[in-house]
Amino acid sequence: MQSVDNAAEQIEFDRRIVEEQKIEPSDWMPEDYRKNLIRQMSQHAHSEVIGMQPEGNWITRAPSLRRKAVLLSKVQDEAGHGLYLYSATESLGVSRSELIEALQTGVAKYASIFNYPTLTWADVGAIGWLVDGAAIVNQISLQRTSYGPYARAMIRICKEESFHQRQGYEIMYELAHGSPEQKAMAQDAMNRNWWPALMMFGPHDSDSAHSGRSMQWKIKRVSNDDLRQKFIDQTVPQIEVLGLEMPDPEIKWNEEKGQYDSGEINWEEFYQVINGSGPCNYQRLKHHKKAHQDGEWVREAVRAYSEKQQTKKENVA
Ligand code: 3HC
Repeated sequence: MQSVDNAAEQIEFDRRIVEEQKIEPSDWMPEDYRKNLIRQMSQHAHSEVIGMQPEGNWITRAPSLRRKAVLLSKVQDEAGHGLYLYSATESLGVSRSELIEALQTGVAKYASIFNYPTLTWADVGAIGWLVDGAAIVNQISLQRTSYGPYARAMIRICKEESFHQRQGYEIMYELAHGSPEQKAMAQDAMNRNWWPALMMFGPHDSDSAHSGRSMQWKIKRVSNDDLRQKFIDQTVPQIEVLGLEMPDPEIKWNEEKGQYDSGEINWEEFYQVINGSGPCNYQRLKHHKKAHQDGEWVREAVRAYSEKQQTKKENVA
């Protein structure tokens, strides 16, 4: 509930949302809007950063110099996405260290998909194609999100994710058209990553805790189920081009609906993974904590440098 003091600001805020105007950091906003944005944007930032681990695992084992260079630059892009998103989140009045603490103590979530292992080189292809592919479907809609810094970060991120998706598909295409062993590897990686990729869109709309408010505030522009269906509809023809078996035997074109029908996600697995009990949750957070601790000297050096600059400025003044 807004106090009487905020009534005029609330009216102005509502008008701007209705008129598709962006809300900027210096604008008044309802406290729940701010909190919900911090929640979603920080979890998005954490996903980008934790998402570097499963693929980073393959940098030293990429099958050629070209593949290694491409993978290295893709993983670096993900770090960049994390940084834009952390900076955009900080514009809401929360510090980077608070956000990192929430991640490391399990208060904030990150995308469930990154809690699965990357068992073979084909997983690098499947992640680029399916995971970045699913991320783009969502993020294209988020380019129209109501908070200005988030919307602008999404525009740049989508351009880079689109390259990521294509490099993943190229890996899959080569494997699927390679030796029988390579084709089997591609099939296996797709089968294992398919369901976790569908889980990226979150629970069914009827079970989504935040969708109602987020859609009303235009933080989210398309619902979890609609985005998931869009992803299925655009990906099934790509599977056909690869010449692989469908990862879900229930996938079938529905003429009447003009979309594909598909099987049900294992929601028990989804909730286990988002609540910390997936195959790699422990490993991912442990690695993040160590990397963060190892980087403390860099943060210390940055602090010392900025203090020195500040003192210099004061002396000159
Ligand atoms: N993984 C982990 N947590 C998930 C999840 C998933 N796949 N889907 C839902 N959840 C969590 C929500 O965060 C929420 O938890 P919380 O209350 O503790 O914050 C809870 O489950 C209930 O789900 P809701 O549907 O109510 O949550 P949202 O309305 O926030 O919808 C979302 C979930 C669709 C993921 C939305 O937050 C969103 O669009 N986020 C921005 C996009 C994003 O985070 N993408 C990450 C993808 S990975 C990526 O981009 C990296 C790239 O390199 C591939």
